[in-house]
Amino acid sequence: MKPRTFAIVGCGKVGVTLAWHLAHIGYLPLGFASRRSASAHAAAESAGGGRVCRDPWEAAADADVVFITTPDGTIGSVAAGLAEHKGLKRGAVVLHCSGALSSEIIAAVRRCGAHAGSLHPLQSFAAPAFPENPFRGIIMAGEGDDKALDLAREIATGFQATFLTIETEHKTLYHAAAVVASNYLVTLLAASTRLLEGSGIAPEETLKVILPLVRGTLNNIEKRGVADALTGPIARGDIDTVEAHCRKIEQSLPDLLPFYQVLGRYTLPLAQGSVRADKLSEMADLLGRS
Ligand SMILES: NC(=O)c1ccc[n+]([C@@H]2O[C@H](COP(=O)([O-])OP(=O)(O)OC[C@H]3O[C@@H](n4cnc5c(N)ncnc54)[C@H](OP(=O)(O)O)[C@@H]3O)[C@@H](O)[C@H]2O)c1
Repeated sequence: MKPRTFAIVGCGKVGVTLAWHLAHIGYLPLGFASRRSASAHAAAESAGGGRVCRDPWEAAADADVVFITTPDGTIGSVAAGLAEHKGLKRGAVVLHCSGALSSEIIAAVRRCGAHAGSLHPLQSFAAPAFPENPFRGIIMAGEGDDKALDLAREIATGFQATFLTIETEHKTLYHAAAVVASNYLVTLLAASTRLLEGSGIAPEETLKVILPLVRGTLNNIEKRGVADALTGPIARGDIDTVEAHCRKIEQSLPDLLPFYQVLGRYTLPLAQGSVRADKLSEMADLLGRS
């Protein structure tokens, strides 16, 4: 089979990463466009070829697959520009990589006979990532038109990722789940390190103190599942300890009390199998029923 050609519009962290890895699994680089030409040149260099174009529709013309990897807020207008300038060949697949948006944001490309889809790598890219493969073993979630899904699956498989099909209408909840697991973990550790500092531990020591505990918890979750991994005062029904935490936090870092309480409330149902209902109800009062 003739190798497929690809174009990238929006040559930032994800665009440049895709350029390198697509080229390395046998896709042919065809065109690159970005807001600044230096970024498009960097992507072409990373892919080992392809033309650098001023306009997205020049870069995308003739490509079998076009990735729109601009910031989420501009994906729709880039797709509209491609459609308006007839910058796609019939049967081309256009994919964006946003987790929050569905393929409907690029529906305009269907006017050129192209297929719309999204392929979201469930991974964090702080910078372009190569030569190491950042896709290996991760989830890449796809949705959209059938032809777009087929190609998205082929690319994910080529990257040694696990392809997951997501229903278009459920994409936003899927992304909210990723935000809770990844971004809010950062928020949790920010709160935890503040509490540690409040307990007298030097700021530069806090991560050293807490990270082994976090890793141990992740290991337990992996081995036993989420509910069975719960330990601590709520899992033991230890009302006095929860009460002491609330009192001390209120005195020392009062803005963190609602944070502690709301997470505690969401922890209570996980303890239902191991703690008596009357104790759970008492703890719910302490944590402020919602
Ligand atoms: N980073 C992550 O961890 C991550 C993870 C999963 C999915 N994603 C998704 O991947 C997509 C790209 O994210 P990113 O992190 O790679 O963003 P990024 O590093 O900010 O890159 C976006 C690139 O698009 C270019 N650009 C901006 N507006 C443009 C326009 N109107 N036309 C053409 N190019 C334009 C930018 O300009 P310059 O030419 O000025 O450089 C920039 O290089 C987003 O949909 C994001 O949600 C990101």
